[in-house]
Amino acid sequence: MDGVKSTQEVLHTKDQSLRHLSQEEVKKLINQSNEAKKYSYSPYSKFRVGAALLTLDNRVFTGCNVENASSNLGVCAERNAIAKAVSEGCKDFRAIAIASDLSDKFISPCGGCRQVMREFGCDWDVYLTKSDCSYTKMTVAELLPVSFGSEHLS
Ligand code: THU
Repeated sequence: MDGVKSTQEVLHTKDQSLRHLSQEEVKKLINQSNEAKKYSYSPYSKFRVGAALLTLDNRVFTGCNVENASSNLGVCAERNAIAKAVSEGCKDFRAIAIASDLSDKFISPCGGCRQVMREFGCDWDVYLTKSDCSYTKMTVAELLPVSFGSEHLS
């Protein structure tokens, strides 16, 4: 079958190109995650996080971390952005950018957020940034390999 692509492969390639972001789109999404970070409510950790989530139909939902005096009730920026999108009917995502004030490390999403991202697919991009807006890109699958998902529940 050399040179002949299966329907699955064609769909996958099409899906990939729909999700691919131009450099300009990446820059914009990262700027939006930094804007969202400004609203961070993090009086306890003083660790500000912002996220900007781009949907397949090119809407952007932002979120910041919102902490609570009862600490386990705090919610991460990524999860807030995802909850905003899902509660407005958007569940297909192209990418999410995450911003923090870390200058020497790329912000790394917590395990809980990785699982929540994975709920909406393994094959979309996560931009992990530093405070100077430099970034590294990973897919959800790379961030959470051998993951558990809805297909395991039958
Ligand atoms: N936090 C996020 O919002 N996203 C992450 O990816 C990592 C951690 C928040 C949770 C808490 O409000 C603060 O950062 C410190 O853990």
